[in-house]
Amino acid sequence: MDFDVIVIGAGAAGLFFAGLAAQKGMKVLVLDHREKIGEKIRISGGGRCNFTNIYSQPSNFLSQNPHFAKSALARFTPDDFLKLVRKYGIPYHEKKMGQMFCDHSAQDIIDMLFALCPEQYVTFQLGQPVQAVQRQEDKFTLTTADQHISCPRLVIATGGLSIPKIGATGFGYDVARQFGLNVITTRPALVPLTFDDEMARICRELSGLSVEAKVMLGTIAFQEGLLFSHRGLTGPSILQISSYWQEGMDITVNLAPQEQLDKWLQEAQKSKGKQDIHTVLSAVMPQRLAAQICNVTGQTGRISELSKKSLATLSTLGNAWQLHPIGTEGYKKAEVTLGGVDTHELSSKDMQAKRCPGLYFIGEVVDVTGHLGGHNFQWAWASAHAAATHMSV
Ligand code: FDA
Repeated sequence: MDFDVIVIGAGAAGLFFAGLAAQKGMKVLVLDHREKIGEKIRISGGGRCNFTNIYSQPSNFLSQNPHFAKSALARFTPDDFLKLVRKYGIPYHEKKMGQMFCDHSAQDIIDMLFALCPEQYVTFQLGQPVQAVQRQEDKFTLTTADQHISCPRLVIATGGLSIPKIGATGFGYDVARQFGLNVITTRPALVPLTFDDEMARICRELSGLSVEAKVMLGTIAFQEGLLFSHRGLTGPSILQISSYWQEGMDITVNLAPQEQLDKWLQEAQKSKGKQDIHTVLSAVMPQRLAAQICNVTGQTGRISELSKKSLATLSTLGNAWQLHPIGTEGYKKAEVTLGGVDTHELSSKDMQAKRCPGLYFIGEVVDVTGHLGGHNFQWAWASAHAAATHMSV
């Protein structure tokens, strides 16, 4: 069979691209080494897929080239995707901060993407690892276990390295390198942070406890939930900051962002003088956490008996705890991969490789990484749309 375009990767970007290209009358072959399509969509958003964010804008993305994503994001907006979701009658809701989730299941989004791919235009070959990609004249030839398939256009939508157990591979980066394209060093992002020594012990002891916290790294700050776990710190605020964190850096955690603890403790010393310090602190944070903070700073007894210096030590720890992560939980737990195909190598108009006409990269394989909250899917849709819109038979 002759195809106009072959897509490797039946994830968010690959499926959406296939549907859009098919609507333009193109014959599309979608190859994936897994037996099932859209596996990451299925597990996303706790099974309900945070499929976009209505406030998504370029500042929600990290890249070595922060301007690159602007064009595609402007041409396919969260509202465009919402229109599609409504057209397919998928019930959805805003959870918080513009994060749009399915009411029922992420499967609704997978079904919609599949429905966008009419059988007469889109052929799926699943469970088909691609063994080699070659370019002869103006055609790409793909070798699988039992066939050679040629095509004038090849779209790489193989995603990043996160969650290898559901099929993530570095295939897209290998293809980019094979054709002489630069790949920005990858690292896990939106990933829990790990600690050693005393902080590791504290995390274990507080495991399961969550608080609203402001987590900072230089001028970058996120105020959302923070969760102590057996392995370290996680929760939205930590996942967000992890995308900016690099080995050797400290982060600052404010465990009571609603209070300026220095002033608040001085007031409390006057009004609650007889109370034990950890009881006083429990008014602004969970009791177990308050007890740990007293423990770490070595402060016990009635608040009236504490010196100014002791109160200052407590407020510094509560409002600006300096922590030194030793690492992350890695690709096994990361939601996304930072880095990827260097955007300087691609046209922002259609995602085509400048030095290899006919070769396209879309979705997470590209060095564009979104914040937590639906931005990564928005990039998958927008980059797929950019590639499909400018492609013609
Ligand atoms: P995606 O990973 O979706 O698809 C890649 C496809 O390529 C897969 O089908 C894979 O099998 C295939 N493939 C890989 N190697 C191959 C090879 N060698 N040969 C053939 N096929 C190959 N984002 C968001 O916006 N909202 C959310 O709620 C979440 N939630 C979330 C939860 C979890 C647990 C994770 C791990 C990630 C998220 N994300 C998210 C991130 C989001 O899932 C991710 O950014 C997109 O799925 C990326 O879409 P792509 O199509 O680029 O890759």
